[in-house]
Amino acid sequence: MTSMISKEGREELLARGYSRRQFGRIAALLGMPVAAAATLPKFMSTGRAATTTDIPEMSRPDKRNMVRIGTNECWTGPFPSAAVAGAATVKLGNRYEPGDLRSQLITNASKVEALPESHILPWPGSSDPLSRVVVTFCSPGRGLVTADPTFEASWRTAAWLNVKCTKVPLRPENNYATDVKAMLAADPNAGVYYVCSPNNPTGTLTPVADIAWLVANKPAGSIVLVDEAYLHFSEAKSAAYLVAQNQDVIVLRTFSKLFGMAGLRLGFSFAKPELHAKMMRYDGKNQSGTLSIVAVAVGSSSLLQAQNIVRRRNEMIAAREATFAHLRQRGITYIPSDANMFIVDWKKPAGPVKAAFAEQGIDIGRNWPVWPNASRITVGSAGEMERFCGALDRVIV
Ligand SMILES: Cc1ncc(COP(=O)(O)O)c(C=O)c1O
Repeated sequence: MTSMISKEGREELLARGYSRRQFGRIAALLGMPVAAAATLPKFMSTGRAATTTDIPEMSRPDKRNMVRIGTNECWTGPFPSAAVAGAATVKLGNRYEPGDLRSQLITNASKVEALPESHILPWPGSSDPLSRVVVTFCSPGRGLVTADPTFEASWRTAAWLNVKCTKVPLRPENNYATDVKAMLAADPNAGVYYVCSPNNPTGTLTPVADIAWLVANKPAGSIVLVDEAYLHFSEAKSAAYLVAQNQDVIVLRTFSKLFGMAGLRLGFSFAKPELHAKMMRYDGKNQSGTLSIVAVAVGSSSLLQAQNIVRRRNEMIAAREATFAHLRQRGITYIPSDANMFIVDWKKPAGPVKAAFAEQGIDIGRNWPVWPNASRITVGSAGEMERFCGALDRVIV
């Protein structure tokens, strides 16, 4: 099982303080199926085989008849011409690579992001590189630091590997931005400082100046991981320019959000080649190399559609702001957002409120333990948000 990880990778993991017993867990995280089969029966120490409900993002009950504003997907699919480009590749599906689709994707990203091609790696979504960064730069001696609440995938990876995880609360006085100075003070020798901007679940931005400060002040050997899954929904500046400057920064992007490709699976990491080489050493570049050509073709086309990106962002903003107007009129507290999601404070436990919305045919998002009275709501289409507001008037009386 452990031989799934390259010899260099095993030696390097041991040198950083991981034990041989953790190799199976790491192999499972990095998509090595033989290792995963051996490891998952003990999933989370339950002593039974893992089921899809053990892993939240694998648990997908059939919600076809509901308004689905619970999981931060886009309300609609890929841009029409991008979908046509993807459909054209289906008949070429007998080939692993029918032409130069993968390199075309990287070339397009390089143009749009003003980054050298050497600094861009595609993945089947951004979840893999997110976990992989924790494996690569954290260790039993060097922890993970994140905001709270934030997207929890890195927390789960750290827990799975017994890596220390320090969570720094978001504060209203700081406009719910990730508090980078408090993060550094909370663990001055961490391996990874994770900044999600706009943040999931609040949709709040962290100024790139704050991210640059963290990069300049973090300890040697650590990296700043900037998760920009929702960046296209805002007009904020990307942290990718720090990657172009060859700083110790990794930026993650996904096509699962504004580009409407969650089920197609495509994402990017942007980093200087040395950092990518470290992330790739465990599995011989396997995961980044096994992409669906349909996803690559759809993503490649989508990247270049600047006008459609703006149009979709504006459509989302209009639906979000109309919803905010309704919440204000009802006197319901929410956090202003720069993304396709927002937090509503019900002032009572969020679980029963979610259940009440489900009875109205509306699937709203989950709550985070730190804010038990608040739910995350994804911004759907204008019509879906009208239905949400109508249901809200029946649920919150
Ligand atoms: C902040 C953030 N990062 C990463 C992801 C992972 O997305 P994917 O694996 O679909 O690219 C998500 C998904 O919801 C997310 O919210």
